[in-house]
Amino acid sequence: MKIIGTGSALPRKVVTNDDLSQFLDTSDEWIFPRTGIRTRHVITDEKLEDLGMAAACAAIAQSGLQVGDIDMFICSNVVNEYLTPGLSCIIAAGIGLRCPCIDINCACPGFIYAMDIADTYIAAGRARNVLVVCAEEPTRMTSWEDRSTCVLFGDGAGAAVFTAGDNVKGIKLNAEPSVDKIWQYRPLEPTPYVRKTETNVPLQMNGREVFRFAVTTSVRDINEILAKEGMTASDVDYFMIHQANMRIIEGIRGRLGVPEEKFPTNIQDHGNSSSASCPILLDECNRKGLFKKGDKIVFSAFGAGLLSAVALMEW
Ligand code: COA
Repeated sequence: MKIIGTGSALPRKVVTNDDLSQFLDTSDEWIFPRTGIRTRHVITDEKLEDLGMAAACAAIAQSGLQVGDIDMFICSNVVNEYLTPGLSCIIAAGIGLRCPCIDINCACPGFIYAMDIADTYIAAGRARNVLVVCAEEPTRMTSWEDRSTCVLFGDGAGAAVFTAGDNVKGIKLNAEPSVDKIWQYRPLEPTPYVRKTETNVPLQMNGREVFRFAVTTSVRDINEILAKEGMTASDVDYFMIHQANMRIIEGIRGRLGVPEEKFPTNIQDHGNSSSASCPILLDECNRKGLFKKGDKIVFSAFGAGLLSAVALMEW
């Protein structure tokens, strides 16, 4: 499998750390050194599906394919306004796709989980051209009265088109399932029979546990897939790391012993946009012309589940 097109779309509204300090007991002096975040794009009047469609269309246009050439669509999303149909069907209806539509809820590593599914379908000969869209609005999951979570996130969509090729050199998916590290729940419709109490709990996170999980699994799994190819971190040209927190990214970079220029980041302007983070970063780097043919690129992402994933790809 190889990537032949990328795209992304962001909400118009940009919220600075100073904006947050107008209504929260927080400051740029607290947020920036601990997270690396200065601003984030936040949904106002946009619909998430419109961002997903814009990212998808940009990726398809760059691929040179027509919408009708896409024969499988995988959408990664945690939350949007619809519970059903899946966001994949909503985006597919908007852009005229008529292929099988799959939704996955794998949180931040969703792009790499989707890559793995795409790779498997293409390798099995069951799909030729797979569209992946990651569209997320985590700013609608947090309480905006909770300074420990809402300052971390931003919204957006990223997309990629994959087709047959031998550029994916390895993918590793990993899980340490538990419901008390990152979680959110909400009540369902009441019925005459429900006897349990259901409450609305906005996004909660055990920040330190997540931090530890992110750094240890990312470094371990990157080294493992590189070793399988007889490579080390110094053989890699670029690392596309989930943009959750600059200290996590720096922790991974330090343990791998890789120079800063191999770790492009956009967390400064985007915050954590869950599964959209990796494909937005990929698209921004691609459109800047950063990658050249043959470059070795590692993807690594981690988050709710707890799930994590890494991939090694040649551009
Ligand atoms: N502004 C000001 N103070 C804040 C704050 C904010 N936005 N958020 C938390 N604080 C305060 C806390 O209330 C606490 O105050 P207290 O000591 O008086 O109780 C203090 O800062 C320390 O909070 P703590 O949560 O222990 O901070 P931390 O050093 O662990 O940093 C994170 C918090 C979230 C930045 C850090 O844990 C982290 O980066 N974790 C990874 C989270 C992540 O990226 N998750 C997504 C992965 S997909």
